[in-house]
Amino acid sequence: MAVIAYDRTRDRVEHYFDRTATQTWERLTSDAPVSGIRATVRAGRDRMRALLLDALPADLAGARLLDAGCGTGALAVELARRGADVTAVDISPALIDIARRRCPADLAPRIEFRAGDMTDPALGRFDHVVAMDSLIYYTAADVADMLARLPAPRILFTVAPRTPLLMAMFWAGKAFPKSDRSPVMIPHSARGIAAHLRGGVLREIERVSSGFYISAAMEHAK
Ligand SMILES: C[S@@+](CC[C@H](N)C(=O)[O-])C[C@H]1O[C@@H](n2cnc3c(N)ncnc32)[C@H](O)[C@@H]1O
Repeated sequence: MAVIAYDRTRDRVEHYFDRTATQTWERLTSDAPVSGIRATVRAGRDRMRALLLDALPADLAGARLLDAGCGTGALAVELARRGADVTAVDISPALIDIARRRCPADLAPRIEFRAGDMTDPALGRFDHVVAMDSLIYYTAADVADMLARLPAPRILFTVAPRTPLLMAMFWAGKAFPKSDRSPVMIPHSARGIAAHLRGGVLREIERVSSGFYISAAMEHAK
């Protein structure tokens, strides 16, 4: 792994979600009213969560799942509802606190919430890993390395696809770099990530497009 690029991105992501954007993210992932644009993002993310859940077995009883970059924990809760034993990890301790608070009491015994890096080998092995919108800030080389290091035979994840709109936003961001430490989303194609993979099969499952939320679900089978 290009450790410097990875560490720099992860530090920015942590700073952003743990300090700058914690409240915004808490609100976006709640039922509280949000602006029109954010409502389209929320709707798109709800669709993406459902799509990822559809790509998993309906009955997850006895399966170990990693919600990698769990944020405020919505996906982890749905996985636990299906019977999985879930480890939900996020680099932001503030978001992990919110996820713990929001977790329904009856599902709490099924979910271990942890603050830390999703690629930490101490998390153990899993039957499936799901990383929804949590690899979107990393380079293709880093995404490929993370897929190799995430300990499961099957990983579901999302990327920002290389659509004309997202590429224009990416290059505009490059031309006018932000002065704050917010992370930059990097659009990817399956082929671009696959070029860095040392094994396994990568395929795009489906895209979701809802206002400013444009996202592609992918599957990596080892
Ligand atoms: C856009 S949010 C998505 C959160 C959640 N998956 C969801 O869909 O609601 C991205 C999340 O990934 C987490 N993240 C990014 N890189 C990470 C890493 N290397 N290890 C653990 N968490 C990470 C961030 O802290 C953030 O909470």
